[in-house]
Amino acid sequence: MMSGRPVALYPGSFDPVHNGHLDIIVRAREIFGGLVVGVATNVEKQTLFSPADRVAMLRDATAGLTGVEVRRFDGLTVEFARTLGARVIVKGLRAMMDFEFELKMAAMNKRLEPEIETVFMMTSPEFGYLSSTLIREVARFGGSVAGLVPAGVERWLSEKIRAQHRGEHA
Ligand code: PNS
Repeated sequence: MMSGRPVALYPGSFDPVHNGHLDIIVRAREIFGGLVVGVATNVEKQTLFSPADRVAMLRDATAGLTGVEVRRFDGLTVEFARTLGARVIVKGLRAMMDFEFELKMAAMNKRLEPEIETVFMMTSPEFGYLSSTLIREVARFGGSVAGLVPAGVERWLSEKIRAQHRGEHA
């Protein structure tokens, strides 16, 4: 991390990471001089990929980005931010649909840890419609996600879907 700038944490479930996430990672790294990408392991929803897989995909996708570190965490995001000494939580905002939920989370996080600020970055328009949910759905039914996720993730996805099909027919 470069000195003089706050340590920033970009948390998420990244199931899997897509190009909209990477856009935020690249831009946040520019501003903060570095970034910790936190992979939440205790998310409410059932994930397609294990925490280890989600971390591995992110590490692969960010391998060329110096100053970007991928870590997994359990528990509250603000607790993890505190252990990192991070002053900033970075979140991406796509559209109005994200706003209400993110506003509530930011307010709760502020209440839990007033020293930590949530900073929102608007997703670049070309990625505005992207979500991990849509990526998983398209991949599950054999559609192409080329250009929407890093090349490595495309391979992980098709292997995962193939393995699921094998399991279903076993
Ligand atoms: O990629 P996502 O699913 O939008 O990420 C949501 C995430 C992981 C950032 C959020 O669920 C989270 O912070 N989980 C950790 C537990 C926590 O701190 N919950 C929020 C309390 S306000």
